[in-house]
Amino acid sequence: MFLPSAVRLSRGVRGGVRGGVRRVHASSVLLEGRLNDMTPEDPAFMKRFGGAGAALPDFVEKWSPEMFRRCGVAGGVAASGALAAFGPSVPTLVGLGAVGAYWAIGLKDLAQERQALRRNFPVLCHLRYLAESVRPEIRQYFVESDMEAAPFSREHRSVAYQRAKGASDTLPLGTRRNVYEPGYEWANHSMWPTAVPEENTRVAMGDARNGCTQPYSAALLNVSGMSYGALSSNAVLALNHGAKLGGFYHNTGEGGISRFHREPGGDVVWNIGTGYFGCRTADGAFCEKMFADNARLPQVKMIEIKLSQGAKPAHGGLLPKEKITPEIAEARGLFGAALTQDCNSPACHSAFGNPCVRSPARAPWLVLSRLLLLTHSLTHSLTHSLTHSLTHSLTHSLL
Ligand SMILES: Cc1cc2nc3c(=O)[nH]c(=O)nc-3n(C[C@H](O)[C@H](O)[C@H](O)COP(=O)(O)O)c2cc1C
Repeated sequence: MFLPSAVRLSRGVRGGVRGGVRRVHASSVLLEGRLNDMTPEDPAFMKRFGGAGAALPDFVEKWSPEMFRRCGVAGGVAASGALAAFGPSVPTLVGLGAVGAYWAIGLKDLAQERQALRRNFPVLCHLRYLAESVRPEIRQYFVESDMEAAPFSREHRSVAYQRAKGASDTLPLGTRRNVYEPGYEWANHSMWPTAVPEENTRVAMGDARNGCTQPYSAALLNVSGMSYGALSSNAVLALNHGAKLGGFYHNTGEGGISRFHREPGGDVVWNIGTGYFGCRTADGAFCEKMFADNARLPQVKMIEIKLSQGAKPAHGGLLPKEKITPEIAEARGLFGAALTQDCNSPACHSAFGNPCVRSPARAPWLVLSRLLLLTHSLTHSLTHSLTHSLTHSLTHSLL
């Protein structure tokens, strides 16, 4: 009994919010009609509701190249008529200009062959593009809730901005969060508080009993690897300064140890990836001497060997030569011809292979073992943390 209406509706609806509104409207109309014991075919139904889809005239559906031409001709006649009747004035000239722009845009839409929407809905489709262009802002400023966005909600971001500006970040009296919702987590006061020993708040890396001459006590939260180059000098300076103030470490990311990592004096974990930045020869191979020199820097507390490119699997990363500044070249150990070429972080290491994929050209793992032994034997001692590297980066299993 309701099928014809439903079919007509779904054909008429092009999807999106407007379609959703029509569907909802139509179903509530049908429901109300049903409650009143009427069918859409009843004259009383038509009189009462004016047809299921009558609320929103679907002029978009009726729009076509032919309709565009007709409207253009009508607009042209109206604008020329107004000009003839009232003479040149701001309104008549603006009208004429609008009709000219309408034709120019529409004919361009019809002539192009890349976008079906522009060919089928000349001029009108630009309203959609306009709406789409402001959609993110409308969502962000009007629609999105303060706690919705991931990974950082507006509320989290506001706290960060307020603290950065030294403004108050606390709101007295209650919370706007739903503390009864499943999954809500909180810390309760303990009825029997105890003192938390310092060692419980740090993680010991390296053990003197196993020959580590300079074990490192790492904080639980540290700065994850983000290379200089991906981050600006000011960002690196700020992070390292924060690491110094907070007593945690700052992972360099694979872009080498820049002067900005060293200046503030915070602890550094040197991340070495496939590009061997900071320990590479001119042709991009691993350089033992540079490795030893940088590994001995007092600030370098641990070395992280990044086994493969987690963020760019199978491709590796590329820093275009135009972006290689003198500071980046210095941090990465690029010199000579390397300065005039794109800087490549290959997909895999050239100094060692995967034991599962045995290559006669390389002695698998020999170089890695050498690298680790070298790390281990350095006087500064680098509690090289292979485990740490594995958990941090890697996709390629050693097993
Ligand atoms: C700008 C940027 C640069 C990064 N550079 C590196 C890098 O050089 N080496 C690396 O191992 N990870 C790098 N990462 C990955 C981060 O260390 C981290 O693993 C990743 O962002 C996931 O952690 P998160 O969820 O806390 O952001 C980078 C991440 C970002 C956002």
